Amino acid sequence: MQNKTPLPPYIFFGDILRQFSSWLETQHYSSYFILVDTSSSIYCLPEIQNIRPDINWHIIEIPRGEQYKTITTCSLIWDALFKNGADRHSLLVNLGGGVIGDMGGFAASTYMRGIDFVQIPTTLLAMVDASVGGKLAVDFKLAKNIIGLFKNPVANFIDCRWLKTLPNGEKRSGWAEILKHAIIADEAAFRKMKSIPSFHDIRWEDWVQHSVQIKYQIVQNDPKEKGLRKGLNFGHTVGHAIETYFLEHNEPKTHGECVAIGMVCAAYISNQTLSLPDSQLVDIVNVIKKWYDPIIIPKQGIPQILSLMRKDKKNRAGKPNFTLIPSIGSYVYDQYPNLDLIADSLHFYNDQI
Ligand SMILES: NC(=O)c1ccc[n+]([C@@H]2O[C@H](COP(=O)([O-])OP(=O)(O)OC[C@H]3O[C@@H](n4cnc5c(N)ncnc54)[C@H](O)[C@@H]3O)[C@@H](O)[C@H]2O)c1
Ligand SMILES: [Zn+2]
Repeated sequence: MQNKTPLPPYIFFGDILRQFSSWLETQHYSSYFILVDTSSSIYCLPEIQNIRPDINWHIIEIPRGEQYKTITTCSLIWDALFKNGADRHSLLVNLGGGVIGDMGGFAASTYMRGIDFVQIPTTLLAMVDASVGGKLAVDFKLAKNIIGLFKNPVANFIDCRWLKTLPNGEKRSGWAEILKHAIIADEAAFRKMKSIPSFHDIRWEDWVQHSVQIKYQIVQNDPKEKGLRKGLNFGHTVGHAIETYFLEHNEPKTHGECVAIGMVCAAYISNQTLSLPDSQLVDIVNVIKKWYDPIIIPKQGIPQILSLMRKDKKNRAGKPNFTLIPSIGSYVYDQYPNLDLIADSLHFYNDQI
């Protein structure tokens, strides 16, 4: 990665017990709320509450899962804030994965025209992706992230301690975003990833910090996704369609597993239409085969996957919008490959695994 942009002062890495505690010393909020889901409540909340037992923490707990990332759940959050006397000088701490961070940030930013919020991401995906970049949203009428806004937290504490209890499937899901960041912006990091022998050998602290750095660098140059930020969609055009396809067939796959497939397809299209060398395509396929269990895409499902892609709002003249890579470590956005080529890329993926 060239021209490393310094991270903003509100992003903290490492020991949260020390960092959050000293940060709180400097703050004077009128009341303190923590939003958790049913998992982060068990695995993460006790440690956070113990940091400052003298603070009267108001806990707002909601069920876990994407299906609760809704306006209805936001109403429950607003209700809890209101009933417990939250005013403009209150603080909401979002302790959980991307669902808690996205929804808690949105609920805080709209309550009384906006109160301060802190992100404490507890999944790998939230650490390297959702908690960085200021996108906050909830789902609406089955469409993802439709109601939302852009706003950064007053602080974001990223600590890998939470990964101890995170299931491996969730870790693999977040790892796909780390892999994506390397593929689009850092060839040397990709080469390093290639040489990691197994999942157990990953040094999370190093990779998380590095990946946040890449994401931050991209978003701070294009906070509202007018151009450059679209690079982060690499692997997601096919990935989202596959995620929806398997969900509709009652075989849900993690977001990361689907993005991993999407990255193979986007790399194949990049090889066919841009200059991505054969050897780099092979490298990407091998890295993904190393980290992810094989998922076969049923041949008869391909037309449905294509039609899901055609519904995307980013399309042009019915052609899905892709981010592609001329070589590992660089990308181009707003690419519109033919549907036949996209179908070929899915067959290519199936042939490789
Ligand atoms: N704002 C953005 O830029 C952005 C970017 C990427 C994804 N997202 C959003 O993030 C969400 C996905 O995030 P996610 O993958 O973190 O999902 P999630 O929040 O649902 O968390 C995944 C699961 O892990 C559990 N969990 C959380 N922390 C844990 C821990 N330490 N130990 C054990 N279990 C734990 C959760 O309860 C949940 O069951 C989606 O809604 C997506 O739209 C937002
Ligand atoms: Zn993603």
